[in-house]
Amino acid sequence: MQNVDVLIIGAGAAGLMCAIEAGKRGRTVLVIDHAKKAAEKIRISGGGRCNFTNLHASPANYLSQNPRFAVSALKRYTQHDFIKLVDHYGIGWHEKTLGQLFCDDSAQQIIDMLLDQCNRNGVQLRLETSITSVSKPDDRFTIGTSQGTVRAHSVVVACGGPSIPKMGATGFGYEVAKRFGLQVIEPHAALVPFVFDDVMRERSKHMAGVSVDAVVSYKKTSFREGLLFTHRGLSGPSILQISSYWEEGKDIRVNLLPGTDVFEALKSAKQAQPKQELKTALAGLLPKKLAAHITAEQKLSGRLADTSDKVLRKAALAVNEWTIKPVGTEGYRTAEVTLGGVNTKALSSKTMEATSVAGLYFIGEVVDVTGHLGGYNFQWAWSSGHAAGQFV
Ligand code: FDA
Repeated sequence: MQNVDVLIIGAGAAGLMCAIEAGKRGRTVLVIDHAKKAAEKIRISGGGRCNFTNLHASPANYLSQNPRFAVSALKRYTQHDFIKLVDHYGIGWHEKTLGQLFCDDSAQQIIDMLLDQCNRNGVQLRLETSITSVSKPDDRFTIGTSQGTVRAHSVVVACGGPSIPKMGATGFGYEVAKRFGLQVIEPHAALVPFVFDDVMRERSKHMAGVSVDAVVSYKKTSFREGLLFTHRGLSGPSILQISSYWEEGKDIRVNLLPGTDVFEALKSAKQAQPKQELKTALAGLLPKKLAAHITAEQKLSGRLADTSDKVLRKAALAVNEWTIKPVGTEGYRTAEVTLGGVNTKALSSKTMEATSVAGLYFIGEVVDVTGHLGGYNFQWAWSSGHAAGQFV
C-alpha cells in the first residue's frame, strides 16, 4: 500500500499542470494514467504543433450551464502565464490566426516541458495502470489500481472526456462523479464535423475538398472561419465551432460568400454582361465546383438577360443563406472535445473541489466547461489544473 498526499487520475494537460503546482507546494503527488504515454492528446493536437493557448482567451469563449464558473480560474492563471512558462523553456511559437498560438516545431516540446516540471517538483508518474475503484472509507481515499492500492488525502479527477476513444479517452471521470453523488450533465461530442443524410451525401460527394471562407450560424451564434466539404458532410473551423451549439434535428445557416450581397452582384452582372450564363456569373464569385453544384441543385440555367430577379434572388439565397439540416455529427470518433460533464454547481470555482466531498477535485475536460476551437480548451486545462494545484 502506498500513501500519498495527492493522487491524480489522468496524465493529460490538466492533470500534469495540477501535479506540478501541488509538487511545488511540497505535496507528495502520484499521477496515474492507463495509457502507455502521458499527454497523448497534446501530442496530436494542432496538427502536431499544439495550439497551446489563445491570446484572446476570456470566459466568453467557453460553454457551460454556468458560464460564470470558469471566470475565477481563467483570471488566476491566464494565457500570459502559460506563455511565460513556454518562453522560459525557449519553445518557439507563433500566432497562426485569431490569437491562436502554436509551437513552431512540435507539440512534443510542450509535453517535455510539463514532464520536466513534474520531475523537478518530485511528481511520480505511473503509466499503463488502470484504476479499479475509488472510495472514501474515512478521511482519506482508497484507490484500487492494477498496481496495488493507494491511500490519498486528495483525489483529482483529470481523465478528460470520451472524445477519441481510440486514444484511450473514457468517461471514467463521470463514473467517479456519480459514485460520489455528483450530477453529470449529459455529455455530447463537440468541435466535430457534421454528416449529411444519404441523399445529400450522394449528391454532394463530388464536392469533397472544396473549401470557402464562410459564416455559419445557429440561432444567435455565428462564426466566420473556413468551411470544408467532406465525403460525408461538412467540416472546417466554422463548422466545428457551431457544432458545439447545434441541437439535433435543427437547421444551421451558412453564408458561403460573406461580405457580398450575391443578389446585388448578379444584378450588376446582368447589366454589365447580359449575355453571360448565370452559372458563369456564379463561378466568378465562388469556387467553380461549388458554383456548378449550386446551379445544378437549384436547377438554374440560361443567360442573365433571360433570368428574372426572382430567380437571381433564389440563386443568391442559396449562397448567402444556405440552410441545411445535418443528420448528425461524426460523434466521439473525431470530436475534439466533449460538451457537458461534471456539473459545476457541485464544484468550488476557486478550488475545483466537490463541495459535498472534501478532497475530491475535478479539472479539465471532465468538467462542464468547453472551449471554442483555437487553444481555449488547453487554456481551461492549464487554468483549472493550476487552480486545484494550489489547494490539493
Ligand atoms: P486529456 O484527455 O488531455 O487527458 C486525460 C488523460 O486521462 C489521458 O492521458 C487519458 O489516457 C487518461 N485517462 C482517461 N481515462 C482514464 C482511466 N479510466 N484511467 C486512467 N487514465 C485515464 N485543444 C486546444 O486547446 N488546442 C488544440 O490544438 C487542440 N487540438 C486537439 C486535437 C485533437 C485531435 C483532439 C482530440 C483534441 C484537441 N484539443 C485541442 C482538445 C484538448 O486536447 C483537450 O481539451 C485537452 O486535452 C483536455 O485536457 P484534459 O487534461 O482534461 O484531458
